[in-house]
Amino acid sequence: MKTIIKTDKLCKTFSTGGVQQHVIKNMDLEIKEGDFTILMGSSGSGKSTLLYALSGMDQPSMGKIYFGEQEISTFRNDQLALFRRMNCGFVFQNIYLLDNMNVLDNILTNGLLVSEKKKEIVSRAKQLLLRVGLTEEDFKKFPASLSGGEAQRVGIVRALINQPKIVFADEPTGALNSASGKDVLDVFTEVNQTGQSIVMVTHDVKTALRGNRILYMKDGTIQGELHLEAYTTNNLDARRSKVQYFLDEMGW
Ligand SMILES: Nc1ncnc2c1ncn2[C@@H]1O[C@H](COP(=O)(O)OP(=O)(O)OP(=O)(O)O)[C@@H](O)[C@H]1O
Ligand SMILES: [Mg+2]
Repeated sequence: MKTIIKTDKLCKTFSTGGVQQHVIKNMDLEIKEGDFTILMGSSGSGKSTLLYALSGMDQPSMGKIYFGEQEISTFRNDQLALFRRMNCGFVFQNIYLLDNMNVLDNILTNGLLVSEKKKEIVSRAKQLLLRVGLTEEDFKKFPASLSGGEAQRVGIVRALINQPKIVFADEPTGALNSASGKDVLDVFTEVNQTGQSIVMVTHDVKTALRGNRILYMKDGTIQGELHLEAYTTNNLDARRSKVQYFLDEMGW
């Protein structure tokens, strides 16, 4: 498989009140096309920061990031914005929907920035919304009248509408009960099976089982990596105990 993202000694440092905090430290990381990468690690280990850097939402302090052949770490802000729009989907820890637009329009604004095929975008938006458990009545609702979990699912559809090459998701099922969490994860699995890459942060073992590899972060570095390809999803028990064993080893 081709490499979609590669980092070379990636560093991210924040300075607050004259104090420097090295949040990502000299990280060399490679993500292949079609990978479903799970990022785990304790709170504060740098998972969200890494996601922001990899996706071009934030500039690294030092080091390089390649997307395919392009070195995106040298991009100007306008180049980065275009790059993100054409290639990436995002699900944030907090979903920001536009308050003055209904559910469907929130998704269409994202879709229509990239494609002119309005009919196709509308039909894909509706299909995805139903797929994550929203109803046709929900399409016309405004964000203020949605529950946290409903808003989260609208955010997920918005991230997927352009069929991005790679989707970055930061605890996408954090606000969901187990039934709608499962619907959402099933959508991610389907999207991954069509060849789109996913990088997902989670604190949840069940969610982690969806990936083909788990990266465990500690203090801004990758402390360990587990490949799950050998443990098929047909034998979930074996997969689960492998993951549990790995996390125990990591001190999770
Ligand atoms: N914009 C910022 N300015 C200053 N410090 C920051 C900033 N963003 C993150 N940090 C610091 O970097 C560290 C890592 O934060 P990050 O959000 O990446 O952790 P995380 O692994 O995603 O944690 P969680 O599991 O709680 O979401 C924290 O100590 C945080 O305070
Ligand atoms: Mg985080």
